[in-house]
Amino acid sequence: MQVRVKPHPQFAEIYQITLEDGAHRLATRNLALGRNVYGERLIRVEGVEYRVWDAFRSKLAGAILKGLQTVPILPDQKVLYLGAASGTTPSHVSDIVGENGHVYCVEFAQRSLRELVDNVCTYRLNMSPFLADARMPQKYSMFISGKVDTVYCDVAQPEQAKLLADNADVFLKAGGWVMLAVKSQSIDVTKAPSEVYQQEAKVLKKRGFRVEQVVDLEPYDKAHAMIVAQR
Ligand SMILES: C[S@@+](CC[C@H](N)C(=O)[O-])C[C@H]1O[C@@H](n2cnc3c(N)ncnc32)[C@H](O)[C@@H]1O
Repeated sequence: MQVRVKPHPQFAEIYQITLEDGAHRLATRNLALGRNVYGERLIRVEGVEYRVWDAFRSKLAGAILKGLQTVPILPDQKVLYLGAASGTTPSHVSDIVGENGHVYCVEFAQRSLRELVDNVCTYRLNMSPFLADARMPQKYSMFISGKVDTVYCDVAQPEQAKLLADNADVFLKAGGWVMLAVKSQSIDVTKAPSEVYQQEAKVLKKRGFRVEQVVDLEPYDKAHAMIVAQR
């Protein structure tokens, strides 16, 4: 069987790939030709190179497969990405926003940031890495000109929703969107994960967001959810 690719029916610059064995995967068009980021497979179909997007490695891909209604990350947009690590999901966000969009990446672990710079940002002109603590947005506000369309947050901190809202206050445009990957165990190990998700959604509501969806990420990520909201 030949590999087949088709655009995702709902989401721009996200693709559905059927592999030789009939398995279905998500993919994005590779903005850095010939380079992969986390060992993902590169596939060339009709002159276009795609990167297979592993939902077990990327919560955004997992959320899409679990029925996300809105992916508020579009071509030409600016995204502030909190908790970029070594670039697995940020690189797919970079593919989606394309060369006229931009991804501002905040990461406080030096080693992860070095890998992000050396393996990812060097080959992608639409990404800017910052070694900074996402709890202190004022420390990197001078590096981001204008407002962003979306703030994506995956930091595994005790007060994730607050941290995200604090960044949105500084950087998010009116009517902009946020995506929050909630790790329930980072917040409260004694509570049921669903209770923690609702608690974080409530924080966002109190901070002026309309929560559109809370997506449980099982089986891709245990005790994690993705919250999508708009202000
Ligand atoms: C789960 S990993 C992120 C994975 C990444 N989002 C992806 O999908 O490829 C969480 C990252 O957040 C970073 N982090 C945690 N707290 C942070 C903070 N206060 N400021 C910046 N980065 C933080 C950690 O160092 C870690 O690299």
